[in-house]
Amino acid sequence: MSLLRGQTAVITGASGGIGSAMARELAAQGSELLLCGRDRGRLEALGREVEREASRVEILAADLVEDEGLEETARAVAEKFGGVDLLIHSIGLFIGGAVEDSPVEELDLLYRVNLRSPYQLTRLLLPSLQERQGQIVFVNSSAGSGADRPNYSGYAAAKSGLTALANALRGEVNRHGVRVMTAYPGRTASAMQAEVHKFEGRPYDPQRWLQPEDVASAVVHALALPRSAELTDLHIRPMLS
Ligand SMILES: NC(=O)c1ccc[n+]([C@@H]2O[C@H](COP(=O)([O-])OP(=O)(O)OC[C@H]3O[C@@H](n4cnc5c(N)ncnc54)[C@H](OP(=O)(O)O)[C@@H]3O)[C@@H](O)[C@H]2O)c1
Repeated sequence: MSLLRGQTAVITGASGGIGSAMARELAAQGSELLLCGRDRGRLEALGREVEREASRVEILAADLVEDEGLEETARAVAEKFGGVDLLIHSIGLFIGGAVEDSPVEELDLLYRVNLRSPYQLTRLLLPSLQERQGQIVFVNSSAGSGADRPNYSGYAAAKSGLTALANALRGEVNRHGVRVMTAYPGRTASAMQAEVHKFEGRPYDPQRWLQPEDVASAVVHALALPRSAELTDLHIRPMLS
């Protein structure tokens, strides 16, 4: 039987490519799921798809840029599940552009979605994660590890901050039995990658890239590792590019 059966997973970005794939993988393990995103229609469709395999599924449509949305999520975890074992941060936003041409408001938004939201949701759920000796996954990006790609400054800066957050947090919570992992996917076929291709002005062929299921499968394998081990950084990239 899977070690993750009956564990409660909170997945942000569940209405998107990698987050939805995480939901399917964890449902197949028999986990309980709280699916978070803004698009209620997509969350409901995903909920219907996975409800047969998952122990239990709830959805929460909220904007996690806002404190209200973050607090509503923490309240839903407490009221509907009584706590959390697996916190999967798959929320993300890409905006590209040269520093010279990019208004600071874009950096503010990239920071709020890609760094502030995972930071604050982690803080709100940390007491429960520590009590349950849970696990935290930050879905980062190859852009957040040694970033130097021109025209990616805002996204890469926020994702680099997420690397720092994960690494510092690990040193604080390992002693409470909480594991922290960062996944660094390369280009992955999703709405975000279609957007990146549009920004780069090149044709988009989703088959060429990592599939969201590839990333989710690798993450779930790492989550199921015995407690004598901790996989801290998972770098995964397309095989042929
Ligand atoms: N695709 C890639 O090539 C790639 C590569 C490396 C890393 N990543 C990272 O992987 C993660 C998942 O991305 P993806 O590829 O699955 O892209 P995606 O399909 O665009 O998913 C992004 C998710 O973030 C959610 N989101 C964005 N803003 C939000 C907000 N203000 N409040 C609540 N939810 C919000 C979206 O929900 P709604 O649409 O419902 O608002 C959506 O579920 C991101 O962290 C991304 O940076 C992606």
